[in-house]
Amino acid sequence: MDRKKFITGTITAAFSLSAFGKIFENRDGSFKADCKTTNDILGPFYKSGSPVRSDLTFEGLEGNVIQLEGQVFKSDCITPLHEALVEIWHCNTKGEYDNSEKGFKHRGSFLTGKDGKYTFKTILPGKYLNGEVYRPSHIHYRVTAKNTSELISQIYFKGDPHIEKDPWASNKKAIHRILPIIPAQINGRLTVKFDIYMG
Ligand SMILES: [Fe+2]
Repeated sequence: MDRKKFITGTITAAFSLSAFGKIFENRDGSFKADCKTTNDILGPFYKSGSPVRSDLTFEGLEGNVIQLEGQVFKSDCITPLHEALVEIWHCNTKGEYDNSEKGFKHRGSFLTGKDGKYTFKTILPGKYLNGEVYRPSHIHYRVTAKNTSELISQIYFKGDPHIEKDPWASNKKAIHRILPIIPAQINGRLTVKFDIYMG
């Protein structure tokens, strides 16, 4: 295979693996991918040290249960990231965060295995006021791993009418973080998929 054909083939292959990334060829013939998950604000309610667990639900919990799942990749867009710590936190259906001294409700951490996959069972969060407008429903993320820059981000949900007036969710860079809620085939559970590409 000549070099040109090989490069074309490689670009096509890489492109199909990344839904929204771009592939650039470096001068030395190697490739650089642009698939990085964009950042968002940390917000005032982050709390470190949330328990490592994938089930954030508990008895008496109100709300629509969702399965939040995805895979963490290295900056090449295709290699799963082993031992990435994925932390999430969100409010309850009334828009309240658990800010009590020892509280970790709706907060959890997941350490990825070799496949880079993570999963959380939790609920769709409610909304809270930011000044005079409601922030759309969102889930906060912090992802850290050895030799990798920290990612602070948030996800939003398609069809949320409060996205338009929210300065962060309506920002162009959030476009790939506004996610559909998919009715899963098994048990009728709602699923949200969010793959993460580290910088
Ligand atoms: Fe928030």
